Amino acid sequence: MAKRSIADIDVAGRRVLTRVDFNVPLDGGRIVDDRRIEAALPTIRSIVSRGGRAVLLSHLGRPKGVGYEEAYSLRPVAKRLEELLGEEAIGGVAFPSEDCLDEAAQAAVEALPEGGVALLENLRFHAGEKKGDADFAARLASLGEIYCNDAFGTCHRSDASMVALPRAMKPAPAVAGFLLDAEIRYLQGAVADPKRPFVAILGGAKVSDKLGAIRHLLERVDALVVGGAMAYTLLAAQGVAVGGSRVEPDMLGEAKDVLDLAAAKGRQLLLPIDHVCGRALQAGTETISVDGAIPEGWMGLDVGPRTAEAFASAIRAAGTVVWNGPMGVFEMPPFDAGTRRVAEAVAAATEAGAVTIAGGGDTAAAVEVFGVANRLSHVSTGGGASLEMLEGKAFESLAMLDDA
Ligand code: 3PG
Repeated sequence: MAKRSIADIDVAGRRVLTRVDFNVPLDGGRIVDDRRIEAALPTIRSIVSRGGRAVLLSHLGRPKGVGYEEAYSLRPVAKRLEELLGEEAIGGVAFPSEDCLDEAAQAAVEALPEGGVALLENLRFHAGEKKGDADFAARLASLGEIYCNDAFGTCHRSDASMVALPRAMKPAPAVAGFLLDAEIRYLQGAVADPKRPFVAILGGAKVSDKLGAIRHLLERVDALVVGGAMAYTLLAAQGVAVGGSRVEPDMLGEAKDVLDLAAAKGRQLLLPIDHVCGRALQAGTETISVDGAIPEGWMGLDVGPRTAEAFASAIRAAGTVVWNGPMGVFEMPPFDAGTRRVAEAVAAATEAGAVTIAGGGDTAAAVEVFGVANRLSHVSTGGGASLEMLEGKAFESLAMLDDA
């Protein structure tokens, strides 16, 4: 069900507690990838341009929950956000203190001008955030008059700011931000009502991580394309020799069930037919290309060119493409070729009119690296959240938001 949007609410003069997901990768205090900050800008701009006061709440990483830890401070994020917003945030971006609920934080929220933005410090410095604690949420609730969720990446969590906070703020409006709205529209909408043919591409290391998504998607897709190390468990379950490739032995039974399910549903299942193999998972390893069975002493590290071509041609003919997980070790050339080929095919499908969605941290990174991110319909900011949405799971955090 569609959710009430921040666009539908009069925010003028009001404090909007806006849960964002600013859990960005940091390297010694330097932001490595600011996509999640960029992605929250439309919602923040919508609030401040209409005279609202944006009070931003986020977590960063997994601190211990016993108070301030510099390594998990949102301070670098506040700085980056201020650079991105420039004069759009009246008075800059306030980043008041080392604790989201101390006196300085409360005073800064109180003093925030119309059109102002404050980012409070990492919610997870309080143990109550992870515990979904009602008292912690009630204290946060006193800081604002409207609740807005734009933290798609955290929507699969029932942390206090995601569930107990909108509950504590009732009957205040609880609305969706623009990023959240787009993520739901693509990840749920495209799967529920796909333009056909609907092709799902799954990859990555472990079949066990993707079983829920495979089962949910097999009900809906016309074709399922599987690459990455997870394909070796499926191939092994088919009795294909996979040499020293990564296989999850305890998943062979489940893998067989998935193969049977695909056959019973009449879905086309595309698995690798040739492979680029290495001696070991390390840069500079000796490589060979093999058709079919992989010899002992070699491990599959990327799909081969015939596979990549077969995958690409299914993708190019699709009306809807959902992609989660790389086809090989794309960070380590020459094992990037299969993922690159798939990325280019997904971009070409978009240009031919398909709705295309990439999700998951590695996949989002891959489409960036291969320069096709802007040529896809949607690149999700969610890792776990986008996968769980593809599994068809219901999120408590979304149930807390007002219906449109
Ligand atoms: C994510 O990056 O997946 C979200 O920010 C959630 O973070 P978490 O896995 O630490 O709850």
